[in-house]
Amino acid sequence: MATNGETTVKKKKKPKESSSESAEPKKAPAPKKPERLVHLKIRRQDAPDKLETRRWEEFKVPFLPQMNVNAALQQIQKYPETTEGKRVNPVVWEAACLEEVCGSCTMIINGRVRQACSCLVDDIAPNGETITIEPMSKFPLVRDLIVDRSSMFESLKRVKAWIDLDGTHELGPGPREAPEAQHERYPLSRCMTCGCCLEACPQYNDSSKFIGAAAINQVRLFNLHPSGAMHKNARLDAVMGPGGVADCGKAQNCVEVCPKEIPLVDSIAVVARDTTKRLLFGWLLK
Ligand code: SF4
Ligand code: SF4
Ligand code: FES
Repeated sequence: MATNGETTVKKKKKPKESSSESAEPKKAPAPKKPERLVHLKIRRQDAPDKLETRRWEEFKVPFLPQMNVNAALQQIQKYPETTEGKRVNPVVWEAACLEEVCGSCTMIINGRVRQACSCLVDDIAPNGETITIEPMSKFPLVRDLIVDRSSMFESLKRVKAWIDLDGTHELGPGPREAPEAQHERYPLSRCMTCGCCLEACPQYNDSSKFIGAAAINQVRLFNLHPSGAMHKNARLDAVMGPGGVADCGKAQNCVEVCPKEIPLVDSIAVVARDTTKRLLFGWLLK
C-alpha cells in the first residue's frame, strides 16, 4: 500500500527455480467420482381411457443434496430420457405447496401412499435402490401420476364441512371458547384432503359408497365448533345413510397412513356414537 504519495510499485514475483531437485512431482489427476444417480421406476398412462398406454418407464437422474421425490421428478421433466436412452414425454404429476400442506403431490412411493414433496431420497433409497412410483389407485386416473380427487370434495359438501354465515354484516364477537376445546379441534383441522386415508382403506373401493375417514373427521371437527354445532344434526344425518360411518370396518389403516397424524379412529368412534344417539333419541332432542 502507498503511504508517502509515491507511486506504488508491485513487487515482481521471482521466477521459480527450474532445478529438477526442487520441482515437485506432478500429481496424477484424481479419478472422477462416479456421479450419484437416483433410479426411478414410474407407472405411466397417457389418458384415462388409453389403457393400452399403461406401462412402466425407468429413469436415472443426478442426485442433489436433500433431494425429495418431487425434485427427482423435476429432473425427469428437464431431461425426459429413459434408462434405455429413449426420449419420452415428461412425466406429469401435481404439486403446489412443496411443504406437505396441500396434499396434491400424493402418490404411491415404494408401495406406500405419501407425499412426494416430503419423501426424501436419502431416506428411501440411501444406496441407490430403485424408487417405484405409482398414482393412487382409488381415484380416477387423469394421466401418469395425476388422479382426480373430486370425490373427496363432494364428500365435504355432503357433510357440510363449513360454518354457515347469515350474511356479511357485522355479527359481533364470536362465542367464547375454552382453550381445551380449541386444542381438541386443532389436530382435526390439519386435514389436507390428500386422500392417503382413502387409498389405504379397504372399505373405500369401486363397489362401496363409503364416504371415508377424512369426511367423517370433518363432521367431528365442525360439530365441535360452537357455530358449526348449529348444523350438527344435518351433518350426522349425512353420515347415517348408505356409505356412512356404519360402513367403517375399523381396520385402522387410515390412521396409520395419515401424514397429519389426525386421530381418525377416535373421530370415527365419536361420530358413530353421535349418530347412534341421534338414531335412538333424535325425536326427543330435536
Ligand atoms: S378404520 Fe378402516 S375401514 Fe374405517 S375408515 Fe379407517 S381404514 Fe377405513
Ligand atoms: S385425514 Fe389425513 S390422510 Fe385423510 S385426507 Fe386428511 S390428511 Fe390426508
Ligand atoms: S406439494 Fe403440497 S403436499 Fe406436496
